[in-house]
Amino acid sequence: MKILVIGSGGREHALTWKLAKSDLEPQITCAPGNPGIAEIADIADVGAEDVDAIIEFASKLNPDLVVVGPEAPLVDGLADKLAERDIRVFGPSASAARIEGSKSWANDLMYRHNVPCPSSRTFDEASAAISYAESQPAGSVVVKADGLAAGKGVTVPETAEETIAAITEAIDQRAFGDAGATIVIEERLVGPELSVFAFVDGEFVSDPVAARDYKRAYDGNIGANSGGMGAFTSPKLCGPSDMQHIRETILEPVARALANEGSPYRGVLYAGLMLTDSGPKVIEFNSRFGDPECEPLMLRLDSDLAEICMSVSEGRMAECPVVWNDNCAVGVVVVSDGYPGAYQTGHRIDGELPLEGDTAVFHAGTAINDDGELVTAGGRVLVVTASSSQSVAAARSNAYELASEIQFTGARYRSDIAENEI
Ligand code: AMP
Ligand code: GLY
Repeated sequence: MKILVIGSGGREHALTWKLAKSDLEPQITCAPGNPGIAEIADIADVGAEDVDAIIEFASKLNPDLVVVGPEAPLVDGLADKLAERDIRVFGPSASAARIEGSKSWANDLMYRHNVPCPSSRTFDEASAAISYAESQPAGSVVVKADGLAAGKGVTVPETAEETIAAITEAIDQRAFGDAGATIVIEERLVGPELSVFAFVDGEFVSDPVAARDYKRAYDGNIGANSGGMGAFTSPKLCGPSDMQHIRETILEPVARALANEGSPYRGVLYAGLMLTDSGPKVIEFNSRFGDPECEPLMLRLDSDLAEICMSVSEGRMAECPVVWNDNCAVGVVVVSDGYPGAYQTGHRIDGELPLEGDTAVFHAGTAINDDGELVTAGGRVLVVTASSSQSVAAARSNAYELASEIQFTGARYRSDIAENEI
């Protein structure tokens, strides 16, 4: 069987690694992939966001299944175009991916179906948005670009000045391009955050799993928001009754709502939650796995990922068990100094990069230079992942020991991933 994976990051390396272990013995091609993925799959020089080029390539390759890692091609209709050509795809249609592609659309869907989420108003004129924001107490709102803004579209302002700046930067100065021409001003919630993932096939929702990601650049959750500096997953993050509550009040109603409104969801659904005093509420949905959450999660997935993706793509997920084991797993992202701001690339990477049972180093931003050496090629360079059936402490110390042995000029990582979970 042939599988085509779309994407080039640590998430896609982890997905490809897990797919490669399938009993279906797939022959995997990844577009565009990275040097880590190239060791376990074929690579195609096709950009992950170039929907037309992917369609052209897939029509030639004729895979049995396409697994889409990132959100942008899904929001742009990749799944629909593959389906038109009778190519099975794991990933939602453009209309279902609106749950990530438009925050106002997602909020309206949740309001219509009584799914707990913050109150919000939508604006496409800065003056109206500012008068509304000024009518709210300082520090009580969040300003969000409506569309996809590569994880940078959310501002959590403390003062009226910061709120006004966020509004004018998005709408008038187009800081996020067209994605911020419309903004959502949302009630600011308080509480710990939790990411919950489930495989969804129409109204069917698999057993969910929880992870926590560490977005801020430095230890102690300080510094700029990044794409993710680390992630942790363990069954203890969210006990069975809390998980059942999240499933019944959030995941299942949303899957049902999408199906009933003519946009059945097929893929992995990622709910970003805030655990408030009045229960879990949704602060965002994503139409894909989180990165770096996916990397430690793949160490907890006991089921066959290729079987799961195939069954979702064929609308028969109910037959396919999804089993997350009871281990805990930690992912530490080794970044280029400066990230998420400006950073250098092209530095040689030295050290062991194992891909074994309970320790896996996934490539995120790497390249091979003209001398055949592995070098840095991005802000997030490697995701060092370890799992343990014994303790969080064991998983952490394995991950950090490996991370400390990886060397390149400017290598840096947070030292407190999962520290408070011990
Ligand atoms: P996002 O880019 O959507 O992942 O959001 C970035 C961060 O903004 C989240 O991880 C939260 O910390 C924060 N955030 C988003 N929405 C809200 C909200 N309604 N209330 C408080 N914080 C929020
Ligand atoms: N780690 C956050 C995300 O993938 O959106």
